[in-house]
Amino acid sequence: MSMQDKVNELLELRAKARLGGGEKRIERQHQQGKMTARERINLLLDEGSFEEFDMFVTHRCVNFGLEKETYLADGVVTGYGSVNGRLVYVYAQDFTTFGGSLSETHAAKICKVLDQAMKMGAPVVGFNDSGGARIQEGVNSLAGYADIFQRNVLASGVVPQISAIFGPCAGGAVYSPALTDFIMMVKNTSYMFVTGPKVVKTVTGEDVTTENLGGSSVHSTKSGVAQFVADSEAEGIEMIKHLLGFLPSNNMEAPPKVECTDPIERLEDKLNSIIPDSPNKPYNVKDVILSIVDNQDFLEVLPSYAKNIVTGFARMGGMTVGVVANQPAYLAGVLDINASRKGARFIRFCDAFNIPLLTLVDVPGYLPGTGQEYGGLILHGAKILYAYGEATVPKVTVILRKNYGGAYCVMSSKHLRGDINYAWPTAEIAVMGGKGAIEILMSKELRAIEDPEKLNEFLNEKEAEYRDQFANPYVAARYGYIDDVIEPRNTRYRVIKALMSLQTKRLENPPKKHDNMPL
Ligand code: HXC
Repeated sequence: MSMQDKVNELLELRAKARLGGGEKRIERQHQQGKMTARERINLLLDEGSFEEFDMFVTHRCVNFGLEKETYLADGVVTGYGSVNGRLVYVYAQDFTTFGGSLSETHAAKICKVLDQAMKMGAPVVGFNDSGGARIQEGVNSLAGYADIFQRNVLASGVVPQISAIFGPCAGGAVYSPALTDFIMMVKNTSYMFVTGPKVVKTVTGEDVTTENLGGSSVHSTKSGVAQFVADSEAEGIEMIKHLLGFLPSNNMEAPPKVECTDPIERLEDKLNSIIPDSPNKPYNVKDVILSIVDNQDFLEVLPSYAKNIVTGFARMGGMTVGVVANQPAYLAGVLDINASRKGARFIRFCDAFNIPLLTLVDVPGYLPGTGQEYGGLILHGAKILYAYGEATVPKVTVILRKNYGGAYCVMSSKHLRGDINYAWPTAEIAVMGGKGAIEILMSKELRAIEDPEKLNEFLNEKEAEYRDQFANPYVAARYGYIDDVIEPRNTRYRVIKALMSLQTKRLENPPKKHDNMPL
């Protein structure tokens, strides 16, 4: 063979590998509204930046006559490239080859990418589109999954890990995405569950469709498993790029700082009148967020789950911030089990990756009721408290309105090492709401009034007195529990100044093997 022949052979092998399971199966993939593994990678990475690993890998299985059927790359495309010039590792399961099912060698390819990403300190994006364990491989396939899980665990908190679910993801296969930082699903074409509809029917008798068991709407609203949902794969890939733009490449880096094109001293007059006169009237805290962050650019995380708390990424003065805000427009912004879990996970991600936290507070307290208590509100409600308490990143807090009871302590208060804590003049910081306080403190006086009208009058009068005396920011300010009372329209400027002053923050927790957070 001449050298030219050898080069031609290489080119032929490459072309063959690029075809995966063949034209017909590629066509079927397209007919289902799905891209191929390589198309997904090409759309994610900067043009021409993809460098592939292990294109010539094939499986080693000899069961069920499989030795006669091999495909180059073995059902997963792996390698690295750049997203907006920054190094990113990637793997994409190829459904056209054995349904993207995971073999021993397929798993080894994913492990190589994870190992390399850890060594280089670069994020990993994984496209999942697979029929699960390669059935013919038996326990070798299970071993492959476990090898991946172990790496996901070790990479957690070291490099950002993003899982795009762009097809089926079932059985134990769901646990790799579950161990990563973010899960993105696509409407209609992706699903995730531990056991599928047939097993569910056998075990529990329930009739449920794939979509109703594990489609994107289930996981973005009911289970809280999927932080992001896209209408199409292309939109999903754009969201992943948007997300990566906010994040550092690893835990030893600061998040990327971009040039700020939005004036930092911009005043937002409408914020001076956003809080309604009546304490029971809601407003949308997202209006506050959008008006103070750079260029109204806010990437919300888990937008449709536990809507009583809002979490997401933005920039202020070009610096990435993780925003956590109670949402008075939904369940009055109350803290419940799901809101606590959602907030805690987001806060811990930000802390792990050096992303400062901006907390906007308007919370009436924790949600009462047997449903919550039986569900373990004590334990789960502690999660957000724990997350704030352990976080060492810069923490800036603005109390917009209500901040009652335990929720005062929890929401990034000074006492949980909040660095700079501001309040709007509309803040109400107290042990409890006026009505409840009067009912307890003046129970004797209240019992003595028989006429219901008079009772009401008395209650209203005392409640107003209580509110005047306690439900304001100045009592807390007198103790230094908040650093300043600020004009709402000036919030953007004050928060950016605060964040700038905290850039050199040094704070470490005591050495330990690991913590024991309530789970
Ligand atoms: C080997 C598989 C496969 C698998 C699909 N294929 N799943 N090959 N192992 N797990 C092959 C099919 O034989 C077919 O090959 C091709 O992939 C496409 O599959 P179709 O069934 O034609 O596609 P579709 O109709 O779209 O259905 C997709 C599907 C279905 C719903 C995913 O294929 C399916 O139910 N697969 C089996 C799922 C499963 O039970 N997996 C094991 C779960 S246990 P040809 O040659 O025709 O193209 C598990 C444990 C993990 O995963 C534990 C980790 C700890």
